[in-house]
Amino acid sequence: MPIAPRDRLIVALDVSSVEAAQALVARLGDAVAFYKIGYQLAFSSGGLDYAQTLAGSGKNVFLDLKLHDIGNTVALGVKSVARLGVTFLTVHAYPQTMQAAVEAREGALRILAVTVLTSYDDSDLGAAGYNVSVPALAALRAAQARDLGIDGLVCSAEEAARLRSVVGAKLALVTPGIRPAGASSGDQKRIMTPAAAIAAGADYLVVGRPIIAAADPRAAAEAIAAEMAQQTAKET
Ligand code: C5P
Repeated sequence: MPIAPRDRLIVALDVSSVEAAQALVARLGDAVAFYKIGYQLAFSSGGLDYAQTLAGSGKNVFLDLKLHDIGNTVALGVKSVARLGVTFLTVHAYPQTMQAAVEAREGALRILAVTVLTSYDDSDLGAAGYNVSVPALAALRAAQARDLGIDGLVCSAEEAARLRSVVGAKLALVTPGIRPAGASSGDQKRIMTPAAAIAAGADYLVVGRPIIAAADPRAAAEAIAAEMAQQTAKET
């Protein structure tokens, strides 16, 4: 079943306290159904309890923890995360890590893999001991993710079309780096508008500052959802 455009918008709760997150979620109301919680909020006081509460209140929660450890430790962590009732959890796309996460996943939890961090270029990979280009490593890891039964990938919208050809239709592609036309790019180097990201094959868009730093966050979220809906309607 196709995902409703509004459910394809994931707002990054990049704030430093549970109180700030609660205020933002209250302001966004029913305009937003999906939230991403990263290190900053998850590891602030009460952050993980808040993730559980938010999931229990009927919102979808994406816990962006980018796990990577020995398989046994990853599996135990994934089981604990599944009990929070969240929808998405990220792991780094190393075969052992992905396999452990997929095997330990329970209930509604879906595992997303991060192929290569978007802040890495070929020279960063070289410094880390890899003799391979970023696109080649991303494609290799995407194919491994597909073969291991990972549920989706986090990637830039620019990579979406190429990775879609590797993983097929079943995996969800989740793309940050989204900027509505005219919005400030902040520190994002490779940005796309919501419509362009949907056209490139993204299933979910992660949007932080263009919504959370807007004078009217709800209006900003609604405008982005409307742009996504318009593009989806064009394609069907
Ligand atoms: O504020 P902005 O829209 O740039 O926020 C994007 C969110 O997506 C942030 O939470 C950021 O950490 C996350 N992200 C990203 N680029 C990646 C992976 C995650 O911007 N490659």
